[in-house]
Amino acid sequence: MALAAPLLRLRLLPLAAFVAVVSLTAAPRRAEAWGKQGHIIVCKIAEKYLSEKAAAAVEELLPESAGGELSTVCPWADEVRFHYYWSRPLHYANTPQVCNFKYSRDCHNSRHQQGMCVVGAINNYTDQLYSYGDSKSSYNLTESLMFLAHFVGDVHQPLHVGFEEDEGGNTIKVHWYRRKENLHHVWDNSIIETAMKDFYNRSLDTMVEALKMNLTDGWSEDISHWENCGNKKETCANDYAIESIHLSCNYAYKDVEQDITLGDDYFYSRYPIVEKRLAQAGIRLALILNWIFGEDKPDGNVIPLQVQ
Ligand code: ADE
Ligand code: ZN
Ligand code: ZN
Repeated sequence: MALAAPLLRLRLLPLAAFVAVVSLTAAPRRAEAWGKQGHIIVCKIAEKYLSEKAAAAVEELLPESAGGELSTVCPWADEVRFHYYWSRPLHYANTPQVCNFKYSRDCHNSRHQQGMCVVGAINNYTDQLYSYGDSKSSYNLTESLMFLAHFVGDVHQPLHVGFEEDEGGNTIKVHWYRRKENLHHVWDNSIIETAMKDFYNRSLDTMVEALKMNLTDGWSEDISHWENCGNKKETCANDYAIESIHLSCNYAYKDVEQDITLGDDYFYSRYPIVEKRLAQAGIRLALILNWIFGEDKPDGNVIPLQVQ
């Protein structure tokens, strides 16, 4: 596979700097994202809320292997994170042990290149996808779409905006019931897996249906608040990161210390957060794609969301 299109908008990162980011250094394996299931859930929700125009554009951009379904490609960015080594820091952002996110302070890679974090990546791939339909576009828009769909999921996983010192909970060892895990993995995978086992008969589709019901039911009043943010020029990704660091502090890290056992108390109090973040990510991904591929751009009016 050829190298992906330049990552960040040029005003943020000159091409030469971008090339320098590509490196083959080996690194320890870390949990990097909502697990596969989390990403599939986010994208299955998004698919339901795409406008006709966006659904058509997505279908055209998807690789043949996707069988026309966005959700099948949403875990892809994790599969290429060793091959596209420069993309590793684009899955998250870390703060210096504080419960707020500041783009200028926190959105960089280990070489302090600005924009190289999950928020910069969402803005960048949104920008690239705006060139859809432009015959002079030099981007691989199939990859842009697969990256965007993945990173909108990631920015909603609270610990993808966590503390640098513990790598978003990766270095915090815990027991999830009787199993040894780290806190990051609990939020990427374990909470979802336990919910699927206990509530949804181990079926991902049943869980997605339950979240969709909640969207038209319990959360219907909230959705209009999920749609808007102060930023009319780029995406709202900066706000999603701010929400995530707040949730990390108030729920993910709260009352957790090294080697603690997390069980029912933690699961029942944190699972509602995970459900809501998955649903928010799905709705917001659909909104971004509807903006990109519809007539309305982010500085125009917001398109009302409708289940297709
Ligand atoms: N590696 C370092 N920090 C991380 C984070 N917040 N999320 C995922 N992986 C990381
Ligand atoms: Zn990821
Ligand atoms: Zn992760």
